[in-house]
This record gives sequence, structure tokens and C-alpha cells, in this order.
Amino acid sequence: MDPERAHHWTLTQFRRALGVPLLGSSLSSAWKLDTPELERELMGLNFPNPVGLAAGFDKNAEHIDLMHKLGFGFIEIGTVTPRAQAGNPQPRLFRLPADEALINRMGFNNAGVEAAVKNLKKSRPHVIIGGNIGKNKTTENSRAVDDYLLSYKALHDYVDYFVINVSSPNTPGLRELQRREPLLRLLSAVQELNQHSQTSRPILLKVAPDITDLQREDIAEVLLQSQMTGLITCNTTISRDGLHTSSDTIAHMGAGGLSGAPLYDQSLRQLRWFRSALPRDMVIIGVGGINSPERAAEMLAAGADLIQIYSALIYEGPALIKKIKHHLLAQAH
Ligand SMILES: Cc1cc2nc3c(=O)[nH]c(=O)nc-3n(C[C@H](O)[C@H](O)[C@H](O)COP(=O)(O)O)c2cc1C
Repeated sequence: MDPERAHHWTLTQFRRALGVPLLGSSLSSAWKLDTPELERELMGLNFPNPVGLAAGFDKNAEHIDLMHKLGFGFIEIGTVTPRAQAGNPQPRLFRLPADEALINRMGFNNAGVEAAVKNLKKSRPHVIIGGNIGKNKTTENSRAVDDYLLSYKALHDYVDYFVINVSSPNTPGLRELQRREPLLRLLSAVQELNQHSQTSRPILLKVAPDITDLQREDIAEVLLQSQMTGLITCNTTISRDGLHTSSDTIAHMGAGGLSGAPLYDQSLRQLRWFRSALPRDMVIIGVGGINSPERAAEMLAAGADLIQIYSALIYEGPALIKKIKHHLLAQAH
């Protein structure tokens, strides 16, 4: 089955199963494992466990109950843009099974921020929700700030933290916003609005792995200057290095961001870089290529306060979440 259709089909089947009363509760107790030892107190929030769902899986906040039942400690919705947009033409999601990787050029397909708000109003279980926000494709970079402010305002009452996404490779020009001046302008504007809100929210920046040390230095400084709560590292990579899949097959798939197992080394290296450059109270969420309990533990030991998963859900299935939690518990004893 086409990977994008498979994604929707699987979610529909899961939702159906959870809707059957007895089956639903036994499924959710089978997936869940939350004990006080797994809890993390961060950003003024109490995370029941450190394993979160990465952005892009539930773009429109349609599957929060289901993801909560699978045992995630927090769920990041989005990337959400102010107006609905279709994204790139299909096919735009490809599997690389030999590498346990995915290539996607979805292009921020989403139903728009108002649709996300509507869904969040409908289902608000007791789970921490992050709102990952971006700009519409048709919005010029010079006006990007307006898009982020619009989505911030609309989502403010329905999410627990925000993520400013400037790192998707599939929206032309978006990653230019990672440069020092536009980044400082963007983050300062969102932070100003945030600090004038009745309740300010933690705000994190999500960065790409394909940046130089000089860019990392700029980003670290801007994070401090704009008083961000933290950083999510990292988004998908445009690199195709070190893959087992044949170069013909990869060329045929075309442009897009690569995620999954091959991203891990790059992601861990960047996490370590930022951890040593940033003050300890700056929160870092580690994401990219985590596909085993050992990798999850290594990422946390390297200084991630929390971790997130996307591609491994496709290759390892949701059982991975519980396996990670078991492993972390065993380590704690
Ligand atoms: C199909 C797909 C769509 C994604 N969409 C988004 C998105 O909308 N916003 C975002 O910040 N990250 C998005 N991501 C990136 C993931 O959140 C994550 O940073 C990346 O996949 C690395 O983690 P992984 O190796 O565990 O998949 C997407 C990833 C995939 C595979």
C-alpha cells in the first residue's frame, strides 16, 4: 500500500479498535506504563514519561486520544499553518525499509489552525500537547512573523507549549528563517506576544540537522536573547549519505527530508553540541532516528530532557514506546 494511505488506514483501524468498549480499555492498559519514576517536571509541566510523539504524525490534532492511549507522555500536533493547504502533490512519502528510514516532502499539508482548534476543543484528555506552528507556503518570508503570531493566538488556550518550526526542508525558503537576523526578529515577536498574554507558554525552536557550527552558535545566542524555553533537535535531513537503499531508488524518490535510523548519529551529535553550548535549564528535546530503547536511553544520557519519535513508529510499531519505558525504568533501578 502507498505509505501515506497506509498511515491513514492504520490510524482508522486503531481508532475503531479503541472505540469497542472492552477491547479499547484492554488495549490501552496493555500499552500504558506510567510510574512516578518516569515522570519529568519541566517547563512548569508534569510529563508522565519522557517519550513524546514528534510533529507531523498528527498534524490536525485528530488522534490525540489514540496517541495518549498508546502511552506517549506528550503529543506534538502540527505543523499547523494559519490557512489550510494541500501540501505537495502525491506521492510524497516513501519508505526505505533497508535503512529503516522515510523520505517525505509533504509540504505542511494541514487543515489550518482553526480546524486544529476545533479538534482540540473536542478531545482534551489529560495529556500534554505541543503546538508546532509554521508559515503558509504562499506567505513571503518577510511576512512570516504574521503567520506565526496568528497561529500562536489561535492555539494559545489549547496547547501546553509551542514549537516554532523553521526547519522543514519542504517549504521553499523556510530554513532561511534559521539565519540570525530573521530568527531573532521572529522569536522576539512571538516571545513579546507570549509575555503579554495572561498565561505565557513555554516556547521551543525546532532546528534542522543540516547546519554548520557557526549557525549553531548564532542559534544558541538567539535562543538566549529571545528567552526561549528550549530547543527541539532535529527535523529531517536533506542528506542522503550512508544509505543502503540503491542510489537509483533514492534518486527516483526525489527531494524531501530523510528521517529514521540513519538520522540518529547526526541528531545525537547535534544534541551534544547544543547541550554543551546552552545553559542546563534550557530544555532540549531530542528527536531523530530513535528506534530502540538503547538509543532512547543514550539520547537522554547525552542531555536530552525529553525525546520524540516518528519514523520508528512505522518500523517498530507502538510497542516500542512501552519497551523504551521498561528500559528506562530498569536503568533507574
Ligand atoms: C511524514 C513526516 C512528516 C513530518 N512532518 C513534520 C511537520 O509537519 N513538522 C515538523 O516539525 N516535523 C515534521 N516531521 C519531522 C519529525 O517530527 C521528526 O523531527 C523527524 O522525522 C525525525 O524523527 P524520526 O527519525 O524519529 O522520524 C515529519 C516527519 C515525517 C516522517
